[in-house]
Amino acid sequence: MRLIILGATGAGKGTQARFISRILKLKHIEMGGLLRKEARKNKLIKKFMAQGKLIPDNITIRILNKEIKNKKSFVLDGFPRTLVQAKALRFKPDLVLFLNVGKDDIVKRLLLRKRFDDTKKNIEERYHLYLKKTLPVINYYKKKNVLVTINGNPSIKNVSKSIKKVLMKFSKFDN
Ligand code: AP5
Ligand code: MG
Repeated sequence: MRLIILGATGAGKGTQARFISRILKLKHIEMGGLLRKEARKNKLIKKFMAQGKLIPDNITIRILNKEIKNKKSFVLDGFPRTLVQAKALRFKPDLVLFLNVGKDDIVKRLLLRKRFDDTKKNIEERYHLYLKKTLPVINYYKKKNVLVTINGNPSIKNVSKSIKKVLMKFSKFDN
């Protein structure tokens, strides 16, 4: 099963992707994590991330393709984030989950987390890029009828419950 989880910065993609990975025994592929690893040896990537900017599509597509090569099942977190990335995907997702969370909650969560790129200014930039670049991806999958929107505002546990319900309805979930 190939599952994609999308949402704004701080929407809970990583948290819920780990939950899905555990209950469906799927590999969790986290684009931000792959890029943080890459940033240790690539100054350009580090600079983009530190400014809350998106890494150029050609770089992210190359890293992603290398990572998913020969993998048939995974939960992909944080990719695609642009229409160019969505159209470059070499597979058709079985399901795309969109975690919908209000901006105020996002800012609160991220200021509590304190990752190196969680400054107020950076969070604003990431949120702005989400509206500009990632919302079109969400609409793209909506039109393809593979998107399910999850209310991501409640507690972690309750969001996981909503996700589990969707997965149970989904025919390939046989637990
Ligand atoms: P990435 O690491 O993906 O960062 P992000 O999109 O900003 O999202 P986060 O990882 O911050 O949030 P999340 O949605 O995973 O939420 P989480 O579960 O951690 O990307 C980092 C950077 O890499 C980008 O800025 C960009 O530069 C680059 N990049 C990545 N992908 C790219 C791409 N495809 N193309 C180009 N560039 C790319 O939760 C956040 C916090 O909230 C945690 O503390 C968590 O405990 C808490 N929390 C989660 N759920 C809840 C809840 N329901 N209630 C209360 N708290 C909650
Ligand atoms: Mg994340």
